[in-house]
Amino acid sequence: MDIKLERVVKSFGSATAVDHVDLQIKAGEFLTLVGPSGCGKSTLLRIIAGLESQTSGSVSIGGDAVDAVRPSERNLAMVFQSYALYPHLSVRENMTVPLRLRDLSAVERMPLLGNLFPSRATKMHAIRSKIDQAAETLQISHLLERKPGELSGGQRQRVAVGRAMVRQPTAFLMDEPLSNLDAALRVHMRTEISGLHRSLKTTFIYVTHDQAEALTMSSRMAVMMDGQILQVDTPERIYRNPADLRVAQFVGSPRMNIFPGEVDSLGRIQTLEFSLDHVPSEPVQGNVSVGFRPEHLRIVNGSGGHDFTLKVTHKENLGADYFIHGAVADGNHQVIVRATPEEVTGVSIGDELGVGCYKSSSLVFGDSNKRIDLRPGLTQ
Ligand SMILES: Nc1ncnc2c1ncn2[C@@H]1O[C@H](COP(=O)(O)OP(=O)(O)O)[C@@H](O)[C@H]1O
Ligand SMILES: [Mg+2]
Repeated sequence: MDIKLERVVKSFGSATAVDHVDLQIKAGEFLTLVGPSGCGKSTLLRIIAGLESQTSGSVSIGGDAVDAVRPSERNLAMVFQSYALYPHLSVRENMTVPLRLRDLSAVERMPLLGNLFPSRATKMHAIRSKIDQAAETLQISHLLERKPGELSGGQRQRVAVGRAMVRQPTAFLMDEPLSNLDAALRVHMRTEISGLHRSLKTTFIYVTHDQAEALTMSSRMAVMMDGQILQVDTPERIYRNPADLRVAQFVGSPRMNIFPGEVDSLGRIQTLEFSLDHVPSEPVQGNVSVGFRPEHLRIVNGSGGHDFTLKVTHKENLGADYFIHGAVADGNHQVIVRATPEEVTGVSIGDELGVGCYKSSSLVFGDSNKRIDLRPGLTQ
């Protein structure tokens, strides 16, 4: 079932945490809500879950408005960052509790009396097999008799997911579920959660402030800033064709290099000491921002062939790649260039290097932060 948000607004006093959000989440997709801390991600997720009521706008699930539907009746499973497992119960018991509450009647749940109802045995059997199946999918079968205290962070995480899974929810809602884990485990769990999504084929709505997490895990990502969704698209398109300067700078690490530019009288875009080959598809006036990702710049040896010069301030060694940090000759702009180890052999801090730009990969943004469409120039 699709989940649809229409013109959703949430104000806390005079502050707007969610500002007119329209979003359609397709059945079965892995959608991440990504943006810097405080941009309204958790508030939006809690509105979907029904844990927070919106100031205005509407949420619907499978075409039905759920604005008046209680959280427990929306059939969404929220997986919290703190796993909220019962410490005194085994993993199996932790996973059983929500199903007992949902599937058994009050009398069937009674300690001794409940056993008098034959229906209880049938239902408990069904619950048991659901748990065994979920445990197998999550590869926690061998942990079912342990207590949460005897599990690692990653295992506890899986139990929390398992407990949500057995209810077969319409969607899983996850709010920064990996942020309590150490860096190595976090990277491992990304793969696990993606794999889980592939095997369950259920909708996942996943909140994170970590753009790398969003890029690696999502079918689509919604980039949020200041309560608004700036762009919703596949990770590839968000990275290659950011619609907005703020999206361009938030997604990608290291950040995109941004240089000030302007459109000259012939309609060409000038930046630093060079002009771009491409020109705006529609006439543009005045100032623009010209963006190059670090992989769209290259160190150029020898004389000539470069677009600007760079004074090296830092050599960042990532093993297979280097990032060369430096200042553009005018001293006003910092820049990061990706290079191979071979290209930077013998390069030292303080050196001046020529840098070439892959000009056709540049992205240009106008006054309102919106990306400007470019086309090949007439001189080409
Ligand atoms: N219960 C609340 N009362 C007042 N302000 C809140 C409340 N919850 C969130 N906010 C504010 O709303 C904004 C968005 O918060 P949140 O949704 O938690 O952001 P994120 O999850 O993206 O970090 C923040 O400025 C935050 O301080
Ligand atoms: Mg949050």
